[in-house]
Amino acid sequence: MNSNLEASYDLIAYPAVSHFHTRIDRLHSIGVLLGMTPPPVETCRVLELGCGPGMNLVSLAYRNPGARFLGIDLSRDQIRQAQKTAATLGIENIEFRHQDLTEFDPESGLFDFILVHGVFAWVPAEVQQKILQICRDHLSPAGIAYLSYNTLPGWYQNLWVRDMMKFASENEEEKNKISKARAFATLIAQSPMLDTGRKASLQKSLQDMEKESDSYLRHEFLEITNQPIYFQEFMDLASAHGLQYLADAEINALIQDEWPAALPFTTVEDNPVWKEQMSDFLRTRTFRKSLLCRKDISLDPTTAPLRLGDMWAVSFLRQDPTPGPSPVPGATRYIDIGGKGGLFIAPSAMNTALLAMEASYPHGIQVKALMERGREAGYQDDDHHFAKRLLELWKKGHIDLLQSLAKMAKSRGDQPIVSPVARYQALSTDCLTNLDHYPVNVHKDFCRLIPHIDGTRTVAELASMALQDGIIPASPQVDPSLQLSNATTQVHRFLDWCLQHGLLLG
Ligand SMILES: C[S@@+](CC[C@H](N)C(=O)[O-])C[C@H]1O[C@@H](n2cnc3c(N)ncnc32)[C@H](O)[C@@H]1O
Repeated sequence: MNSNLEASYDLIAYPAVSHFHTRIDRLHSIGVLLGMTPPPVETCRVLELGCGPGMNLVSLAYRNPGARFLGIDLSRDQIRQAQKTAATLGIENIEFRHQDLTEFDPESGLFDFILVHGVFAWVPAEVQQKILQICRDHLSPAGIAYLSYNTLPGWYQNLWVRDMMKFASENEEEKNKISKARAFATLIAQSPMLDTGRKASLQKSLQDMEKESDSYLRHEFLEITNQPIYFQEFMDLASAHGLQYLADAEINALIQDEWPAALPFTTVEDNPVWKEQMSDFLRTRTFRKSLLCRKDISLDPTTAPLRLGDMWAVSFLRQDPTPGPSPVPGATRYIDIGGKGGLFIAPSAMNTALLAMEASYPHGIQVKALMERGREAGYQDDDHHFAKRLLELWKKGHIDLLQSLAKMAKSRGDQPIVSPVARYQALSTDCLTNLDHYPVNVHKDFCRLIPHIDGTRTVAELASMALQDGIIPASPQVDPSLQLSNATTQVHRFLDWCLQHGLLLG
């Protein structure tokens, strides 16, 4: 079974992308806010199981030069690609091993963070058991394990689509499989025999698929194994290996006030696993990024407000330009750029803080400075109350709370530098990893300029290069000095965009 999987990933490599939620300093902060004392990120050891082509780990290793990283994967070709990437970028604090994780070396020692993204649901049960055994035997006492997997009941809808796509492509040559599978599902979606509800949901699945690469769809929808699991079942397996639930890395919890409306006729159990499972039923969630730690750690989220002052806050909320009628006079409506809905915030210290965070994005502001700004604006909120409100926004995923910030530029400067990782990626893709470990899609033409933004060229030199290489189209009718000046303006705009999207080094 594992040799089939190896051949499948050797043949069609998984997209070489980073996964924002595996960012180790973020995982560290989540641990701290929930009462843990995880090992310091600066000197930690990190293991990634099923690391694929390694881009995730390479970006993490670049961001954390004092930490040490080990990535293993069953696919020889992907590991070769990972090793080549690390060598080209001169990243030395990382090792990639071609290995079946079921043969993981018991002498490998302890790791402070174990990352397993996009593997657990896609491997046979015995490999799942081995993943949990590795977490049990190799997670350091205050370490954090991250495991992502497809979940039920949300995935029931996708299983129907997956079965249909597998059925349609079974006897096709590899190179035609995905196009045949897509075409078949599209045909079914047009059938008049399909009931309205099914049709709408199939059309929605097809729309979602349009945004995905063939390689992702091949492994998600046509791979031999894809076994979604209920959160409760996942936790039963984890618990049998001495692990407990910490949180999900993509925090979007139902907060205290939402429970009565969520379940009007039942009592709410004071049990995090039960609550999370309920929220999966209510939201038909399809994917989880769960964080686990050892059972003997006593978690205490009530101390979080006390741990907040020195942390940095980054907000994903933006003022809504068309807010509609407000329930509270003077309230500001915000929308979440990550698609987590919107909310009204009344004039308050919190509103002052959100506006300040929006203005400083992608840079964060220290929480104690936000508290100070509230006081300067004339609000006398008590710090504890402010911290609790901030934590509610954090639990909804509207803000990030971090213990340190990436070294991003605050202005574009005259000889700007795009991060080396993004410069390397730009040679083969327009989906780049920014300094916050976040994937950013860059305009196709301007992406060709990225490898040259390495600190050796001025903006004017970059502009003339953009004209020469056809990145900015030149027109023979226009005076060359005017063309250069227009190109310089466009490059300035592009660099501002890079700055805003966390691509420029500080
Ligand atoms: C869906 S891909 C995810 C890759 C990467 N973690 C990511 O999310 O970008 C699953 C990966 O798990 C690897 N894998 C599957 N079974 C494995 C095993 N038994 N040992 C090591 N790696 C395995 C595959 O080769 C593949 O690279």
